[in-house]
Amino acid sequence: MRLSTSALLLASLATAQDLTYRDSSKRGLVFVPSKKGHVADNQIWVEAGSDLSWYYNYEPTPSATYSNRTQEEFEFVPMLWSAATTNFADTVRNLISGGRNITHVMGFNEPDGESSTGGSGMSPDSAAASWISQIEPLRKLGIKAGAPAVTGSQRGLEWLVNFFSACQDAGTNCTADFFPTHWYGDFGGLASHMGQISAAYPNKTMWITEYAMSNADLEPTQEFFNMSADYFDRLDSVERYSYFGSFRSDVSNVGPNAAMLDNKGRLTDIGSWYLGQAATGNVPKGAASRLTGSGGAVMAALVVAGFLMI
Ligand SMILES: *[C@@H]1O[C@H](CO)[C@@H](O)[C@H](O)[C@H]1NC(C)=O
Ligand SMILES: *[C@@H]1O[C@H](CO)[C@@H](O)[C@H](O)[C@H]1NC(C)=O
Ligand SMILES: *[C@@H]1O[C@H](CO)[C@@H](O)[C@H](O)[C@H]1NC(C)=O
Ligand SMILES: *[C@@H]1O[C@H](CO)[C@@H](O)[C@H](O)[C@H]1NC(C)=O
Ligand SMILES: *[C@@H]1O[C@H](CO)[C@@H](O)[C@H](O)[C@H]1NC(C)=O
Repeated sequence: MRLSTSALLLASLATAQDLTYRDSSKRGLVFVPSKKGHVADNQIWVEAGSDLSWYYNYEPTPSATYSNRTQEEFEFVPMLWSAATTNFADTVRNLISGGRNITHVMGFNEPDGESSTGGSGMSPDSAAASWISQIEPLRKLGIKAGAPAVTGSQRGLEWLVNFFSACQDAGTNCTADFFPTHWYGDFGGLASHMGQISAAYPNKTMWITEYAMSNADLEPTQEFFNMSADYFDRLDSVERYSYFGSFRSDVSNVGPNAAMLDNKGRLTDIGSWYLGQAATGNVPKGAASRLTGSGGAVMAALVVAGFLMI
């Protein structure tokens, strides 16, 4: 009797695990607004049952589409994209005096990268001057600051070293409370990159703010997704993470299989898992797949017809 009860319990636990993906308080949204007029897509990430608790949009102010969500419901994290923004500290102070409890901000998006790949292309010197005027005053208010989010490369790590020494040259210790980290590639590379950051900046936490296995087949892309989510949830040094894929597969710049929505705007398996829900079985399709897909089907039908006629 006892045995069969626990066996039943185990069976029901296993079923529950199969149906929905594990929740995580660390999970957030990299918000990439829908560009093809599918504005309803933007609400998918905040619908009932979504596990996402915070977001950033590469900007200092919240996105209009989420302005009806309070900071407590869906936490907004402002970002200072580049040195071109000279009123970042004032903007964040205004958000706070307007009633938004801003506790974290992030500095500079891919300053070591070119604008063609979403980078802000800045010298360590100009970034240091901007950080000193825009970020350090916010740290004095008790706001935690994320280091410049460099690309997941050796060049990025070198840029960071030069950034901190440019601050020293300017007579200031630029202090980062956490290290936003980007990675596109496989799991081994991700773990090794995170290891390099931990070694260079001991006792600092990391936020993995952009990551995905880009331009790969669906199975390894999903395997990477599972392994990285497990890893981030297990590590205390990872405070938060946000998967790069909040868009349709046919407009994805990281390959269709990494996207969280298929070409019709439905959650893919990865998209649904990321929200803490069950697999959907919706297979992401690329921009060309509609054409090649139907072409392929026509070809197959012709081959079959030809074969039957022979
Ligand atoms: C918030 O506004 C969006 C449109 O911008 C709307 O679709 C959504 O239903 C609203 N949510 C709530 C909770 O009012
Ligand atoms: C702001 O949020 C932090 C973290 O959740 C909390 O500790 C703090 O009490 C909040 N402050 C206000 C003024 O609500
Ligand atoms: C920067 O930090 C170092 C080491 O903690 C300290 O010795 C130095 O006084 C600091 N410099 C400034 C300008 O705060
Ligand atoms: C990191 O934290 C440990 C334990 O708190 C401490 O012993 C060590 O000195 C710290 N290292 C640095 C570089 O701050
Ligand atoms: C990823 O995790 C889900 C949920 O646990 C599981 O159903 C799926 O088989 C996993 N996929 C891979 C490729 O590991």
